[in-house]
Amino acid sequence: MNKKRILTGDRPTGRLHIGHYFGSLRKRVEMQETGEYEPFIEIADVQALTDNFNNPEKVRSNVREVCMDYLSVGIDPTKSTIFVQSMIPEIAELTVYYSNLVTIARLQRNPTVKTELAQKREIFGESVTYGFLGYPVSQAADITAFEGRYVPVGEDQEPLIEQCREIVRKFNSIYGEVLVEPEIVLTNTKRIKGLDGNEKMGKSLGNAIYLSDSEEEVTRKVMAAVTDPNRIKKDDLGNPDVCMVYYYHKLFTPEEACENCCRECKAGERGCVACKRELAENINKFLEPIREKRKYYEERPELVDKILIEGTEKARQTAIETMRKVKDAMKLNYFDKN
Ligand code: TRP
Ligand code: SF4
Repeated sequence: MNKKRILTGDRPTGRLHIGHYFGSLRKRVEMQETGEYEPFIEIADVQALTDNFNNPEKVRSNVREVCMDYLSVGIDPTKSTIFVQSMIPEIAELTVYYSNLVTIARLQRNPTVKTELAQKREIFGESVTYGFLGYPVSQAADITAFEGRYVPVGEDQEPLIEQCREIVRKFNSIYGEVLVEPEIVLTNTKRIKGLDGNEKMGKSLGNAIYLSDSEEEVTRKVMAAVTDPNRIKKDDLGNPDVCMVYYYHKLFTPEEACENCCRECKAGERGCVACKRELAENINKFLEPIREKRKYYEERPELVDKILIEGTEKARQTAIETMRKVKDAMKLNYFDKN
């Protein structure tokens, strides 16, 4: 047993949707199942607070929701360690030491931070908080506190992992080779668009299908999806390439049925309502086992708590161990007897 450690996480700001599934969860489950890795999965509540500091209730309630989303898609707590960031103070401690190794200019240049800031005008106005600007430093601590070697994330996270690698190299060059430099493992071939055709799927946009949506919710959302606008009557010749229903058929509908859909749409032999019904059915088929698993955990909140507590305890031991090495290297071990 010398498994390669994986470190990933999510901000608990909402339930997870199928974009998260195809973007990262599926890959995590896959890696977990190979048995080659030791996955650590962080519910990043401290990071979530950096742009939700005025809404602690939202972050709090979503910690358990996100955990249940993980469990429902097949993250197995006997194989993967799920933990809560705020319950591991060593991460915060490490963040303080790392903050000396990063310049403000470098943080301001981080493309992910830049993009997010442009989207968060309403919370930060013209002036960003120290905590938000510094969250890449804290994320570097998230990864390195657990000696995470592989970080399977989407491409939007690349600049954060790169910044983490820089911090690690700087730390190791000053204090000695203590930290593990992580590698990114890109998980999403492409981002899944929303049902309205928007590039991004999100709660505020109302264009997402959640892993925890009921059958009725899925059907309702699919019936409202954006189709080929030039198609009014069933026998109008359609263009599936501009239709979000077809886009989703490609994700959820078996190949042959999907080809039929494309051909019949182009030939004007398929009604959009029937086409949407077929899609809703296929998405529901896909979500059914996930829903069932989720229900199991929803009915057992004490089990979910136990998984979080035990995962956090286990993760914390690793962080304590790393912290000891870090403080030794930084000459902060005044009263240790070695
Ligand atoms: N920033 C990540 C996101 O928004 C969440 C995250 C926090 C993370 N800590 C992490 C991802 C450590 C990978 C590794 O999705
Ligand atoms: Fe879209 Fe299907 Fe209508 Fe064609 S038939 S436009 S693929 S919903």
